[in-house]
Amino acid sequence: MSTASPDRAVFDRIAPRYDLVSGLMTLGMGDRWRRAAAEAADATAGQRVLDAYTGTGDLALLLADRVTRLGEVVGVDLSPEMIARARLKATASGRECRFEVADCTALPFASDWFDAATASGGLRSLADPAPGVAELVRVVRPGGRMVILEVTPPARLRGAHARVLRFTTPLLGGALGGDPDAFRHMVATIGHVPAPQDMAAIMGDAGLLGVGWRTFAGGIATLHHGVVAP
Ligand SMILES: C[S@@+](CC[C@H](N)C(=O)[O-])C[C@H]1O[C@@H](n2cnc3c(N)ncnc32)[C@H](O)[C@@H]1O
Repeated sequence: MSTASPDRAVFDRIAPRYDLVSGLMTLGMGDRWRRAAAEAADATAGQRVLDAYTGTGDLALLLADRVTRLGEVVGVDLSPEMIARARLKATASGRECRFEVADCTALPFASDWFDAATASGGLRSLADPAPGVAELVRVVRPGGRMVILEVTPPARLRGAHARVLRFTTPLLGGALGGDPDAFRHMVATIGHVPAPQDMAAIMGDAGLLGVGWRTFAGGIATLHHGVVAP
């Protein structure tokens, strides 16, 4: 596990304020987008699903509702503090969901282990998302689905959304008050998100078929999906 990762330190510090920060960065629409991601994963009762880069676990918990207690959802994140919050949410909501601290670029799971995998807001942490996508593909069985959700860099947006995000950015600074490194990290990593067609190409190169995407709210977030080649 890359315990020395700057991401781990930043997210350990952000963890108590992460849900507030995430709400600002998604203009309050993150839950709606995560529900769409859970739907796109198309998980059914009894299936085994991975939520990579799970953070405080919101998407993993939505997936747990779909696989029911007959199946299993595993949420994985590098940050023990984020995972601690995800576990608290699972307990508080009475859902069964396993949360593990691990590096999603070197997952501790056998190949083809899961029926589906999701990754929301995590691949942008990687300098190059391609090996990260390939590692997710490795652990999903042939025919299984993969779903990636990312917010769009404000620089690529025009009009009202760009203006709104410019307005929320200082609020984000306030929410992360006293931690300018964390603020810089959150804003800078959004700039790493590949354009939708580039992410689609990465997914195709990693062995996914039927790759497609849909955008939300005029393009401020993108949901990618594909199926692991049989
Ligand atoms: C922006 S948050 C997204 C959290 C959540 N999925 C959501 O939708 O709100 C990104 C998460 O990725 C985690 N992360 C970054 N690099 C990672 C890696 N190599 N392996 C596992 N988790 C990682 C961070 O600790 C953080 O919790």
